[in-house]
Amino acid sequence: MKICFATNNQNKLSEIQQILGDQFHILSLQDIECFDDIPEPYETLEENSAGKAEYIYSRYQIPVFADDTGLEITALKGAPGVYSARYGGPERSAEQNMSKVLGELKEEQDRSARFRTIMTYIDHTGSYQFEGIVEGQIINEVRGAGGFGYDPIFIPSGYSQTFGELPAKVKNKISHRVRSLARLVEFLKSRHN
Ligand code: IMP
Repeated sequence: MKICFATNNQNKLSEIQQILGDQFHILSLQDIECFDDIPEPYETLEENSAGKAEYIYSRYQIPVFADDTGLEITALKGAPGVYSARYGGPERSAEQNMSKVLGELKEEQDRSARFRTIMTYIDHTGSYQFEGIVEGQIINEVRGAGGFGYDPIFIPSGYSQTFGELPAKVKNKISHRVRSLARLVEFLKSRHN
């Protein structure tokens, strides 16, 4: 079965193909010859994720899923949330994003935060959403060179290293994205077995 994953991020594609196995053939946006800059105009992860999947389904009519992720910090009332990619400015720089967060949390005792992913899957039967969350803490410095985005300032609950320090193998077992994907996979497999 062929499914489009509405992304051009190679890391996300190979991560997802590995989890899904041979039963599903994942196509990237490039594979379906979609070179559009898909808009993400909404104020919630749910709407942006659904908007991306709908954009592809309405044009290509193939089963598709799309994700949207945000870092939600309790002391910042859920910010940066849906604005995570461009929190520190339009350059979408991870360094600027992290430094803005660290500045805002400087005097803050409550360091709790979570990454949350919403996956939307659409096919001819309807539209379905799957959530994945990893809880943790924001530390007060940048630690580790692995991962991307806010990984070097986030320690997942139950660990003492940041996502930037932990091996990718560990992150990919417990991450928000993998958890939302696992729910989608369970759904797809239950329908195709
Ligand atoms: P996207 O929806 O996956 O593109 O994620 C939006 C933004 O959230 C990214 O640009 C990153 O800043 C942040 N983000 C998403 N996933 C992760 C992650 O696994 N680690 C750290 N930051 C992430």
